[in-house]
Amino acid sequence: MQTCSRIFALKNWCLKRVHRIRRRRFDCELNLSEVSEKFPDLRDRYLYFNHYFWNRAPSWLRDHRTFFSKKNRGFGEDAFHAMWYFLFRDLKPKTVLEIGVYRGQVVSLWSLLAKKWGVKIEIHGISPFTAVGDTVSLYSSGLDYYKDTLFNFSQFGLKEPILHSGFSTDPSMLNVIASRKWDLIYIDGNHDYEVAIKDVSVCVKALNLGGVLVLDDASLDTSYKPFPYSSAGHPGPSKIANNMNRNEFAELLSVGHNRAFQKIKVL
Ligand SMILES: C[S@@+](CC[C@H](N)C(=O)[O-])C[C@H]1O[C@@H](n2cnc3c(N)ncnc32)[C@H](O)[C@@H]1O
Repeated sequence: MQTCSRIFALKNWCLKRVHRIRRRRFDCELNLSEVSEKFPDLRDRYLYFNHYFWNRAPSWLRDHRTFFSKKNRGFGEDAFHAMWYFLFRDLKPKTVLEIGVYRGQVVSLWSLLAKKWGVKIEIHGISPFTAVGDTVSLYSSGLDYYKDTLFNFSQFGLKEPILHSGFSTDPSMLNVIASRKWDLIYIDGNHDYEVAIKDVSVCVKALNLGGVLVLDDASLDTSYKPFPYSSAGHPGPSKIANNMNRNEFAELLSVGHNRAFQKIKVL
């Protein structure tokens, strides 16, 4: 059994290395809409972003990911860093919110991207800043997640974000969500359907027209078949993404288990 899992780990490691190698097929500059046109196959699209991360992105993007890949500082996959790079490069959002901050990987990446493009941005994060998980996630205790997030920002010389301690479903957090119109909201908090659907219902109303809602862990029951080192997500967010109202939202992009929906109509 142990030998089997070692062989699997080795094959996985080799595949990951192979997918980093420069390949002519993926070696091109595209904008957001061109990526989906050129790579309709979701595995190819994932590989395009993974390839971009390793071969075309600026080194500071990889440095940021390297920092959060160490010591359990963050989740996600390399390709997602490239996805955020594209979203911020092409859309330049100015009011942004993350639900489920953990140790600040994504909010600090947003701050870095905005800084690099000289965009004045307001970054908010809602999270309990404790080890609270859900039925599919477990986080380690004994860490002050709030202080840790601010410390991680300081490592990159970034301005502190506006952090709100609480659960996304708390009345005070609902007020934060409803307090303005957002250009971008990323939901990666509690992955259980009952909670995630509440998050999405509130957030869709709080988005600007043209604003983007990104759902994490949302690609089960799609044509995306994950590589052994990646994941298609969890049932709750996937069900929600698969049932998004297509009169109100167009699917702008999907990269692995991250799916981005753009508000095209106010209902
Ligand atoms: C998967 S982690 C987020 C990872 C982060 N996006 C990143 O890439 O580093 C989920 C986070 O959501 C938090 N969380 C759990 N339930 C939540 C809720 N109801 N509202 C907001 N955050 C929640 C967890 O404590 C954890 O910090």
